[in-house]
Amino acid sequence: MKQRKMIVVYKSSTGFTKKYAELIAERMECALADYRNVSADMLSGYDVVIFGTRAHAGMIDGYRKAKKLFERSGIATLVLFVTGAMPNTATATVEAFWEQNLPEGEREKIPHFYMQSGLCYEKMSLTDRLMMKVAAVMVKNKKDKTAEDIAFEQAIKSSYDISSAKYIEPLVSYLKS
Ligand SMILES: Cc1cc2nc3c(=O)[nH]c(=O)nc-3n(C[C@H](O)[C@H](O)[C@H](O)COP(=O)(O)O)c2cc1C
Repeated sequence: MKQRKMIVVYKSSTGFTKKYAELIAERMECALADYRNVSADMLSGYDVVIFGTRAHAGMIDGYRKAKKLFERSGIATLVLFVTGAMPNTATATVEAFWEQNLPEGEREKIPHFYMQSGLCYEKMSLTDRLMMKVAAVMVKNKKDKTAEDIAFEQAIKSSYDISSAKYIEPLVSYLKS
C-alpha cells in the first residue's frame, strides 16, 4: 500500500485526534488535512484516506457524513481510526463499540483502529462540557454502582492524557504491509 497516494484526514475538537493524525502522517510521509478543509474534489486525487475522529457518547463522531464525502470523492480505500477516553486495555468495551458502530460487512471491509487519548476539559466545547456534567450526575445518582461505574465516575472528574505515540503502531504496520 506504500506506493499509493495517501492522506490523513482528522476531525478533532480538543486536539487528541489531531496529534495522532500528525504522528501518522509523519510516519507515512503522506498528506494531512483537517476534515473542515477537505472536499470531494480535493480528495479525488488520493487512493487511500485515513480518517481519524473521536468516540462521542458511544458513537464515531461524524463518521457517516465523512464516509459519504469519501465515497463521492471516489477514494478506493478508507481506513478508520478513533480516539477516546476508554483505555486500549478495555478490549471488550472497545470491541462492543465497534460492533455498535460498524455493521458486520463494514467491520470486515473497513480497517479500523482504536487509540486511547483522555479528556481535555480546558479545550472542550460548552456542549461537550454539559454532556460530561450530565454523565457525571447520572453515574453519581446511580444505585448499585458496578466497579466500571465507579471507575468511570473517577475518570471523568478532571482532564487526563493517556495518549502515546505507540498506539499508532498497529495502524502504521497495516499501512506499510
Ligand atoms: C461529550 C463527550 C462524550 C465522549 N464519549 C466518549 C465515549 O463514548 N467513549 C470514549 O472512549 N471516549 C469518549 N469521550 C472522550 C473523547 O473521545 C476523547 O477525549 C477524544 O480523544 C477527543 O478527541 P479530540 O481531542 O480529537 O476532540 C467523550 C468526550 C466527550 C466530551
